[in-house]
Amino acid sequence: MTSDDVTELLTRAYLDELETVMNYLSNAITLDGVHAEEVKESLAADVDEELEHARILGQRLKQLEQPIPGSEAFDARQASLQPPEDTTDVRSVIDGVLEAEAEAIETYHALIEAADEANDPVTEDVAVTALTDEEAHRTEFRGFRKDFPAE
Ligand SMILES: [Fe+2]
Repeated sequence: MTSDDVTELLTRAYLDELETVMNYLSNAITLDGVHAEEVKESLAADVDEELEHARILGQRLKQLEQPIPGSEAFDARQASLQPPEDTTDVRSVIDGVLEAEAEAIETYHALIEAADEANDPVTEDVAVTALTDEEAHRTEFRGFRKDFPAE
């Protein structure tokens, strides 16, 4: 019953979540300044949520009797989420988060579609749960973005 598309998307989503954990954690520690505080707190909280997504995705791969990837399967993709050289550059982090969330939302939509086609409602449910959180993160960071308009 497992389709190759479902396995591939679950694996990609799992690795993307772990890259997001890495970059949200680094940025939550990196940023400086009074304007950064709220963004840092939000990133630190999101680290836990994204790690939980990875855990759920990994458990679903296991249930489907698929391998769970280690770090050697990993290709970094989040160029725009690298911690900024200027540690007060909150805007670049917000933009990087919005890009990462858009990417995640796209992946979960694809996973929902693939799971539906494969008649796999459990994977579909996993993807909907993660998608719900990512959309909430996007809304929060769209709000932050309004406090940091382009120069
Ligand atoms: Fe996530």
